Amino acid sequence: MAVEVTRDGAVAVVTVARPEVLNALNTATNEELLHAAGEIGRDPAVRAVVLTGAGDKAFVAGADIKEFRGMSPEQARQSSWLGRKAMATIGGAPQPWIAAVNGFALGGGCELALACDIRFAADNARFGQPEVTLGITPGWGGTQRLPREVGNGWASYLCLSGRLIDAAEALRIGLVQRVLPHDELMPAALELAAEIATRPPLAVRYIKSQIHYALSVDLEAGHEIERDLFALAFASEDRAEGMDAFLEKRPPRGFEGR
Ligand code: COA
Repeated sequence: MAVEVTRDGAVAVVTVARPEVLNALNTATNEELLHAAGEIGRDPAVRAVVLTGAGDKAFVAGADIKEFRGMSPEQARQSSWLGRKAMATIGGAPQPWIAAVNGFALGGGCELALACDIRFAADNARFGQPEVTLGITPGWGGTQRLPREVGNGWASYLCLSGRLIDAAEALRIGLVQRVLPHDELMPAALELAAEIATRPPLAVRYIKSQIHYALSVDLEAGHEIERDLFALAFASEDRAEGMDAFLEKRPPRGFEGR
């Protein structure tokens, strides 16, 4: 298996594990990733997910160039569909996904990190969209997600030049939210995931959805969606418990996702 899933309480850890090729994503790996994301999305016991790469050198070094070399345009179209589908399944999952970027996140690896809700990076991480150096374009969402995340200028700089940026630069432009020493990356990502896992799951799901729509619909429609999900949260038992706990000056008893 090139995609390993383990559990740490309510947190799932997904590891892309093809270290011999710096965790490059071929079709089989993308299919495994899509399957794992779907299974996790359907499991209400999982409340947050950490995604990382095997080894200490790479998160994911992109699509598998060896496989790409033999592809026809139609196979490339299918590869784009599959990669996007895997990433859309992560983006549309009820639980937040945190990318723990432990090294190179290039091409499809950068796109995969972008599909997650939050990104932490090790200080040795490097980001880039080097597809142009191979005579192709980003095909799994890079030209669409990057401008939304870091603006047109930085997206154009990365995609047109193929240059890599380091973790400090990625932090400065807002591509990642935190940079940590390499051995502190997973503990920090797991700590954040565990904290989110204690929050009311319905509110977490609605917030993820509301933020997701902020990037895909216009402001007025986004406000409508926000208003509806805000109101829906008032229907939950967890909302009553959260507010009672605050008013009674005690910790909440634990949220059930109801
Ligand atoms: N697809 C297939 N194989 C890959 C790969 C990829 N995207 N990225 C790395 N590998 C393989 C290398 O071919 C090498 O295999 P080998 O040991 O059989 O020769 C192995 O992984 C180690 O990579 P190597 O290039 O020797 O490591 P490095 O430290 O010198 O360089 C990178 C690391 C990430 C800078 C370099 O591997 C690289 O540029 N990879 C491609 C990145 C890319 O263009 N991604 C977008 C693809 S669309």
